[in-house]
Amino acid sequence: MNLGIRGRKAIVCASSRGLGKACAMALAEDGVDLVVNGRDAAVLEATAEEIRKATGVEVTAVAADVSTPEGQAALLAACPDPDILVNNNGGPPFRDFRDLSRQQIIDGVVQNMVTPIELIQKVLPAMVERRFGRIVNITSASVKMPILGLDLSSGARAGLTAFLAGPARDIARHNVTVNGLLPGMFDTDRLKGSTSAQADLKGVSVEEMASSRAATVPAGRFGEPDELGRLCAFLCSDAAGYITGQNFLIDGGLFNAAI
Ligand SMILES: NC(=O)c1ccc[n+]([C@@H]2O[C@H](COP(=O)([O-])OP(=O)(O)OC[C@H]3O[C@@H](n4cnc5c(N)ncnc54)[C@H](OP(=O)(O)O)[C@@H]3O)[C@@H](O)[C@H]2O)c1
Repeated sequence: MNLGIRGRKAIVCASSRGLGKACAMALAEDGVDLVVNGRDAAVLEATAEEIRKATGVEVTAVAADVSTPEGQAALLAACPDPDILVNNNGGPPFRDFRDLSRQQIIDGVVQNMVTPIELIQKVLPAMVERRFGRIVNITSASVKMPILGLDLSSGARAGLTAFLAGPARDIARHNVTVNGLLPGMFDTDRLKGSTSAQADLKGVSVEEMASSRAATVPAGRFGEPDELGRLCAFLCSDAAGYITGQNFLIDGGLFNAAI
């Protein structure tokens, strides 16, 4: 399918590894020039080179913490008028909600709610003027389904989802769309980290823990990051201009509901 976005420009936040990287690669495969981002400059440059070699698009690497005003300024300096913005970031670690300090709660909200809103505020005027904009926010299935221990992450992302529901409709007439991707369990470094922590807690091997977690998913496996990347690229395409304000679970059937 021709997505009609060859030559467009995208900022993909937190994209040196995992789901963000998969979104960047999928957009690059459709001819989109990219700004990629992560805090570890060496890992980021390796990813940028991998995408350049695989696709031939222009890839600019911006090593920065996207949660900070300086990090956001660096991303926008590298690409002042993106056609596409993929909001992604790290998530807070597993923690009993009783143990969260006030500052930790504020940091989590900044990471997963305030940061994407700030970036949207900054890229929106030029998207509206050009009558093309595609904004995709990677959130989590935990917006719909509690995951005890990730309460801060879930709350901040649910806040983002509710916050953007109005603005998505307000700007739809300018051909600027805003949608969310709600991943279940995808095979990334983050998932490996939480699987290994749970294995330690339960006193089982990491392999046993991984297969018992995968067995809870109707699809019987974890998601592959490129499965999410391709959905992201579709939502960023010309063809998806009539889809806005939606939140897509991509979880192998894990969320158990009829609609
Ligand atoms: N994997 C899943 O199953 C799953 C499920 C639901 C939700 N999610 C959410 O989806 C997001 C991505 O998850 P993932 O599994 O892809 O994680 P991951 O494999 O750990 O990758 C995270 C990426 O984000 C970058 N990053 C982290 N903090 C950053 C910051 N402050 N500024 C810039 N870049 C930053 C990392 O690079 P550096 O460390 O070098 O900065 C890395 O490139 C997370 O918010 C996660 O909570 C994931």
